[in-house]
Amino acid sequence: MKRLFVVFTCVLLMACGCMPARQAAVPAPAAASGDVQARVESLLQQMTLDEKIGQMTQVEFSSMIKGDVTKYFIGSVISGGGGAPSPNTPLNWVKMMKRFQDEALATRLGIPMIYGLDAVHGFGALYGATIFPQEIGLGATRDPELVRQVAAATAQEMRAAGVPWNFGPIVAAPQDIRWGRTYESFSEDTALVSELGSAAVSGLQSLPAGEPAAEGQSLYVLATAKHYLGDGGTTFGSSTQYIQQQYLLDQGDMRMSEADVRRLFLPEYKAAVDADVQSIMVSFSSWNGEKMHGSKYWITDVLKGELGFKGFVVSDWGGIDQVGMTYDEGLVTSINAGIDMVMVPYDYFSFIKGMQAAVEKGKIPIERIDDAVRRILTVKFELGLFDQPYPEQARVEVIGSAEHRALARQAVSESLVLLKNENKALPIPKDTPLIYVAGVAADDMGVQCGGWTTQWQGESGDIQPGTTLLEGMRAAVSQNTTITYSAAGVFDGMAEYGIAVVGEFPYAEGIGDRSELTLSGADQIVIRNLREHSKKLIVVIVSGRPLVITDVYPLGDAWVAAWLPGTEGAGVSDNLFGDQPFTGKLPYTWPRFNKQLPLNLNNSAGLKGCEAPLFPYGYGLGEAGSKPIKWIECNEFED
Ligand code: BGC
Ligand code: BGC
Repeated sequence: MKRLFVVFTCVLLMACGCMPARQAAVPAPAAASGDVQARVESLLQQMTLDEKIGQMTQVEFSSMIKGDVTKYFIGSVISGGGGAPSPNTPLNWVKMMKRFQDEALATRLGIPMIYGLDAVHGFGALYGATIFPQEIGLGATRDPELVRQVAAATAQEMRAAGVPWNFGPIVAAPQDIRWGRTYESFSEDTALVSELGSAAVSGLQSLPAGEPAAEGQSLYVLATAKHYLGDGGTTFGSSTQYIQQQYLLDQGDMRMSEADVRRLFLPEYKAAVDADVQSIMVSFSSWNGEKMHGSKYWITDVLKGELGFKGFVVSDWGGIDQVGMTYDEGLVTSINAGIDMVMVPYDYFSFIKGMQAAVEKGKIPIERIDDAVRRILTVKFELGLFDQPYPEQARVEVIGSAEHRALARQAVSESLVLLKNENKALPIPKDTPLIYVAGVAADDMGVQCGGWTTQWQGESGDIQPGTTLLEGMRAAVSQNTTITYSAAGVFDGMAEYGIAVVGEFPYAEGIGDRSELTLSGADQIVIRNLREHSKKLIVVIVSGRPLVITDVYPLGDAWVAAWLPGTEGAGVSDNLFGDQPFTGKLPYTWPRFNKQLPLNLNNSAGLKGCEAPLFPYGYGLGEAGSKPIKWIECNEFED
């Protein structure tokens, strides 16, 4: 009754012109607190078709023509991978948010826009942010409380720069590590992904205790579970996408029965929905030839129906463009399938025109549009955007704070998986007189961060403040220790210890798809060189996935998988020098040979001898660790 009265009064006041429309549309917080639904319905009743379509439109920030957020009622603006204002400072981010928000609030109904981006391992696009280990490393920790804390810290850094929406976590369970998004995913194991994915959702979305919230706000940073459904289940070679190079698995086709899809990939979304995730991004990939973006069955029937998902569904980057014979046909199919907001991301004129025509011709029912807008507005209210649309400038000091960096360092330490430790190679005594360190990855911030750091693809070099692995080692050893570094591994004489840091250069998405995962020739040479000059050799792998290391495996006394640790490289030295124990467990099955791929938890049971993985899923020495594997000589080309 009270709700109706508020709506009625507002409409009345507006009709008589005693109140400017904007204020009438957004009831004062005191009147409506806790009553999001009434506020949404009140707005929806006043909205024109163009205003509704605007809410469903999401545009990449540098494509946004000045004044068009207002003119077209644009509901969401985003950064693509690495998209940042220049100069890339927190205050400039805040300024950019304010600029877009001013335009949104200047519309008739004053509906705030929502800004989103990929803060998939910390706010990677922001210079000076804390960069946490990529999801693969967090998967190795198997520590949901840690994952929750990492997500909460990421959310704080985002909010401090004024960004309320994160396109994460990824809840894929990759079944083939040749996929370039393996590192973006916690694990190949459905159960572990479900557990850690929901921990991340809760860390991002929960309001931090003691921080001021807007009236009625229930979400801190909006989380996105992605990419729905089965992005990690595509068949090798099934991708038709070409961006810079031919993709192999990414955006490919998942060829399996519905029962398998439901068993491997649906529980992750059930867990995310149960953890109250309020947005879900659709996958570029297909299921048995049908694009997920066009699948009414999976999006509407299963996700919104069966799983009871109440938030909104967002497309991936131009994802609807891949659905139909024409753009307009794909648009109609995708919206009718249940996509609520479209990451256009560039040509919003064509999208808006297509939407208007489709609704006018009755190809998209207005009820579908209302459902989409209702979902979007509800989330905007829950985020407190109506009541507090502007970022708070005062909190930028949390970005890259000592506290967050300490948490990241702990996460790195917990993520390390000890694969081999013979001849008492580890831990290394801190007072060792001479240590040789080799390999590019030992002293390259960009390499240790991986993709989605300052650029979409990531990049090598001094791209973020932080501690490289080498700097961490130098800080860990005694004053009497000499550490000599050579990227190529060229040394004279003999050191007590050699540490080779090898791995992969940064990549993202299908550009990281590979047909072979053998450790590079250059890195193999680094290992061989260093072996000649060190009594004990430790090899640290900095990579986005297990690599085929079988040929050089016997050369190392110890092997450590460090994944993509991010800015806090000292977490690696913490374990190498014995300050912290090794506790990480493999989140993916480790192949012995390329020809075994795809190899995973679900197809490797019972494999024996040379057919077996080099290390099984869950393997890891150290505290309460696995029994070391027995090394056997195998030849890849013998059957
Ligand atoms: C990726 C998404 C990402 C989006 C925006 C797409 O290419 O698949 O994961 O959220 O770009 O950067
Ligand atoms: C990234 C963009 C990139 C685009 C290339 C997106 O996923 O976020 O930064 O330019 O893909 O297609």
